[in-house]
Amino acid sequence: MKIPFLSLKKLNAPYLSQFHSDFEEFLERGFYMLHDNVRNFETEFAEFCSAKHAIGVANGLDALELILKSLDLPPGSEIIVPANTYFASILSIVNCGLTPILVEPDERTFLISTESILNAISSKTKGVLAVNLYGRMCDFHEIANICKAENLYLVVDAAQSHDALYDGSRDCPGADAIAYSFYPTKNLGALADAGAVVTQHDWMAERIKSLRNYGSTVRYQFEHKGRNSRLSELQAGFLRTKLKGLPEETRKRRAIAGSYLAEIHNPKLELPLGDRLKEDAWHLFVVKTANRSQLIQHLEKAEIGYDIHYPKAPHQQNAFAEFRHYSLPITERIHEQVISVPLNGSLTTPEVSYIIETLNNY
Ligand SMILES: Cc1ncc(COP(=O)(O)O)c(C=O)c1O
Repeated sequence: MKIPFLSLKKLNAPYLSQFHSDFEEFLERGFYMLHDNVRNFETEFAEFCSAKHAIGVANGLDALELILKSLDLPPGSEIIVPANTYFASILSIVNCGLTPILVEPDERTFLISTESILNAISSKTKGVLAVNLYGRMCDFHEIANICKAENLYLVVDAAQSHDALYDGSRDCPGADAIAYSFYPTKNLGALADAGAVVTQHDWMAERIKSLRNYGSTVRYQFEHKGRNSRLSELQAGFLRTKLKGLPEETRKRRAIAGSYLAEIHNPKLELPLGDRLKEDAWHLFVVKTANRSQLIQHLEKAEIGYDIHYPKAPHQQNAFAEFRHYSLPITERIHEQVISVPLNGSLTTPEVSYIIETLNNY
């Protein structure tokens, strides 16, 4: 049985006829930028996230950069960020002229640990960028308490955690702003690049609305040096359609993750924690193994797709030579051992059983 790691065509198949009518409506209306679809998606997504505001932007990296820019921090201000994240989380800090302070995650949850935040705070620290990696929410009560006590901004990279819960709510308590990506492979994915900033702050929402449109809210008047980061009207229409199906996609992901956790028994594999099975968004199902190349051979022979999130740590990337001095043994070990197996709502029951059987036979 051949199973791709992720087939976007298969994942989007249930939405095809609605996408066609969304496109017809878009053509019929004749408004292409920042119009009804964007406004309606912003209202619906804010409500979905239990937040006051959602502002559509061009992609997840821009969402992060616009948040950081809106904080108006002195150049070189330090932002504490987990070292084991996607390149974009750290790049956003660098691109804003700020200094990322890379810290180790908790090895079991893969998420930034409160202890490492506390150890990294200096007089230049202005914020924490917490990443809900693989679909699991960070420990927001503890992180928000630290941020409050130390007078730090709390920004969340939620590119992988649409619809995840924390204490039963989709809100990240204590966060000043949350950045979402709707890149096509995300749990809520558009058909092109797209992103959003979610916040409870009126001042931030106003600033981001201006910054995404060159720094202007009144036509031809520019209050800030912004950029062009507008969410496409067409993509906002597709996102409105897919947002309605997101709870069902999450339900399926949780059910499949539940089966993997209950039925994969192999001492050579370390499975992700299942303590938040019903709260995690399960963007990825990440397994750790001491001999990854052997497992890859086994999966390839069985024709099961896989991916690695991520094969090389950000501080070891050529683009980040300035961070090469960091010694981050937990992060480096994670990058050497992790492998992601297929998990998404388009998988059939026989496919799930075949993946379980193949991992048990390894
Ligand atoms: C954790 C994380 N942060 C940021 C991003 C950047 O999002 P985008 O590709 O939409 O710019 C991604 C997307 O891949 C991501 O996974």
